[in-house]
Amino acid sequence: MFYRKSKNTYLVDEVFYMSIHISATPGDIAPIVLMPGDPLRAKYIASHFLSDTRLVSETRNCLFFTGSFQGKSISVGASGMGCPSIGIYSYELYTEYQVDTIIRIGTCGAYDTNLKLFDLINVSQAVSESSFALTAWGMEGSVMDHQGKAFDMINEIAAQKKRDLHRGAIHSSDVFYSNQEGFSPLAMQHNCLGVEMESFALFANAKQLRKNAACLLTVSDLILAKQKLSPEQREKALLPMMELALDAARAL
Ligand code: HPA
Repeated sequence: MFYRKSKNTYLVDEVFYMSIHISATPGDIAPIVLMPGDPLRAKYIASHFLSDTRLVSETRNCLFFTGSFQGKSISVGASGMGCPSIGIYSYELYTEYQVDTIIRIGTCGAYDTNLKLFDLINVSQAVSESSFALTAWGMEGSVMDHQGKAFDMINEIAAQKKRDLHRGAIHSSDVFYSNQEGFSPLAMQHNCLGVEMESFALFANAKQLRKNAACLLTVSDLILAKQKLSPEQREKALLPMMELALDAARAL
């Protein structure tokens, strides 16, 4: 039996399921969420860095965990791939779970030939051909800024720890595979350092809802040089990004 209880809250056989795509109960998710694309990366972060960790949602295997990092309650959960997917999860976290801050932690392909594998980028702006912001919120334009204070905190912690960090615009592409020659003209016009697929929608949702959002990326591919991290390198490669995101989340 399925009863509508209130907006997006359903009572199913006496069990509450909050929000359509996340099955955590209210209070199970911390105000700060780290958000990798891959559910197994969320699990890795939860098991390696958090204590008193609980699995709070596994709807569609999009795993969310909540635990403690050096005394601060933090959640980590997956966004899936692309603007539509992160658009759903970030919206529900912000509106149904009172989340204040989402820090996406992902990988990107480098357009800029000064970038090297393993480099870290703190995304100042997402540039996209995506219709997400216009369709969802009537926001015109193809550039979306990071939102709130998380970006500055990531810069501050990186400076304290003497960790090299690039800052700049990223191309949030809607496609991974394409038959088009060369890089996106829009991305070139805005001097994008590289390409990923999610930050534009995350920043648009945060802007609409007046929340905080940042995106920290590890360079996993050099597109012109046709080099990429091996699967074995990937796990180790992402550790500095995870540590920086956790330290920033703790300090926020
Ligand atoms: N394209 C889009 N997203 C990515 C890439 C890429 O080449 N590499 C890592 N994330």
